[in-house]
Amino acid sequence: MQLLSFLAASAAIASSASAHPSSKPLHPRQAATKITVDRSRKFQTMDGFGFSGAFQRANLILNLAEPKRTEVLDLLFNTTNGAGFTILRNGIGSSVDSRSDWMNTILPKSPGSPTAEPQYVWDGKDSGQLFLSQQAVKYGVKTIYGDAWSAPGFMKTNNNDANGGSLCGVSGARCNSGDWKQAYANYLVKYIQLYQQEGVPVTHIGFLNEPDLSTSYASMLSSGAQAAEFIKVLSPTLAAANLSHVGIICCENTGWQQTTQAFNGIKSSGAESLLSVVATHEYTSRISSALSTPAHVWQTEYSDLNGRWSTAWYSNGGAGDGLTWANNIYTGIVTGNLNAYLWWVGIQDRPTNNNNNEKLILIDGQNYQVSKRLWAFAQYSRTVRPGAVRVGTSGGNFRTTAFVNVDGSVAVNIINTGTGAATVSVAVTGFNATSATSYVTDNSNDFTEKAPTLAADGSATAQVPGRAMISFVLRSGM
Ligand SMILES: *[C@@H]1O[C@H](CO)[C@@H](O)[C@H](O)[C@H]1NC(C)=O
Ligand SMILES: *[C@@H]1O[C@H](CO)[C@@H](O)[C@H](O)[C@H]1NC(C)=O
Ligand SMILES: *[C@@H]1O[C@H](CO)[C@@H](O)[C@H](O)[C@H]1NC(C)=O
Repeated sequence: MQLLSFLAASAAIASSASAHPSSKPLHPRQAATKITVDRSRKFQTMDGFGFSGAFQRANLILNLAEPKRTEVLDLLFNTTNGAGFTILRNGIGSSVDSRSDWMNTILPKSPGSPTAEPQYVWDGKDSGQLFLSQQAVKYGVKTIYGDAWSAPGFMKTNNNDANGGSLCGVSGARCNSGDWKQAYANYLVKYIQLYQQEGVPVTHIGFLNEPDLSTSYASMLSSGAQAAEFIKVLSPTLAAANLSHVGIICCENTGWQQTTQAFNGIKSSGAESLLSVVATHEYTSRISSALSTPAHVWQTEYSDLNGRWSTAWYSNGGAGDGLTWANNIYTGIVTGNLNAYLWWVGIQDRPTNNNNNEKLILIDGQNYQVSKRLWAFAQYSRTVRPGAVRVGTSGGNFRTTAFVNVDGSVAVNIINTGTGAATVSVAVTGFNATSATSYVTDNSNDFTEKAPTLAADGSATAQVPGRAMISFVLRSGM
């Protein structure tokens, strides 16, 4: 029935159009949709955009021969020809060896008791992540986040770094071997110091990953209240090691509801002020609100786990499409007031997880393929640099965000989810742009630079195709 009435309606349109063939120009000049940026309306400060090379994925880049190795690194970090990612999330290994894709720990053997001298073992590789981190630093990445999926098994109730279990010494987790909270904090400090020695300044540290989920790989369960007990040990331990500038991140729950619950537990346990970042994933529940907290809020891991490898920008609006990720980032920033948005793994091979869509770049032996999801991230990451402040916008039915960068440039990011092209004109109140660039990603563009028209009043005008994203960067010469 709906189909029939649709056909009738389009027949009517067609006949009315042909009845007056000369009443409309063949290519009507589109009126530009005006978008105005108001720099006085300020929201969150951005920390950046990122990804992880955990579970030995970083080795895939290390094992590429030149020039492909540099090409992939450029795609991830370069601000001239890549996504310009600004945050790297490393996994802190807890496994006793590197079987499967496990991340090995720096403390494979129990010292026997929580107060005995630990024998740390540094292999200088850290599952390829040291290499990736050193490269990131070379590209100017300033935010390096180390996150432990679990404490080593001997510190836990189940004596295993996998299959859940809890950290011995937090409420409800008594172990015959004693209370390992301080030993775990010392261990994380040691990890930071080892990276420091290798020229990689770790800026953030996390001690849980998806603590609401027990998995067959590294995993450790924790409530918000239990996390707070550990945070109260970790914070002074960092300070005593002159590492109080390293921010504590918690709790990386599987979804927004679970993260909110854990955060409330931390807050009611009096540890909120010790938190630098509240971190969430979006697998089990999507970001639907903003937290009220002085801490920053990051989405640290999300991806399309179910789809088969796809490089599409728009195929059917599915979970793996690049356009879907532009929208996901937009929602995180606007609805969640997020300070950072991280994808899951930047790179992965073909066999892992039956070549699913959880990566941005497929590394297939000595070749690679880039998904449009990478360019969706680039639209934000290349134009919205760390320290940028989100500001208000008005006008247009697009998904628009705007930011004032530290250098004074203004980024305006516009997603056109409609099927038709549109002309957009961007102006910043009290700011006469003297130069403007714009970048477009859609099915046929990968962050393609297109010069907008710059008017005397400082507004910049460009075309955004249907189902596309355009990002403007406006600069004022003064
Ligand atoms: C980024 O790419 C440009 C262009 O290929 C290159 O000149 C530059 O050295 C790269 N940046 C880094 C940090 O490697
Ligand atoms: C921390 O820094 C202070 C002052 O620079 C110094 O005296 C102290 O030895 C340092 N402590 C550690 C553990 O590095
Ligand atoms: C911007 O340009 C317009 C038109 O040339 C001018 O009237 C206005 O004073 C300028 N504003 C600033 C902030 O420079």
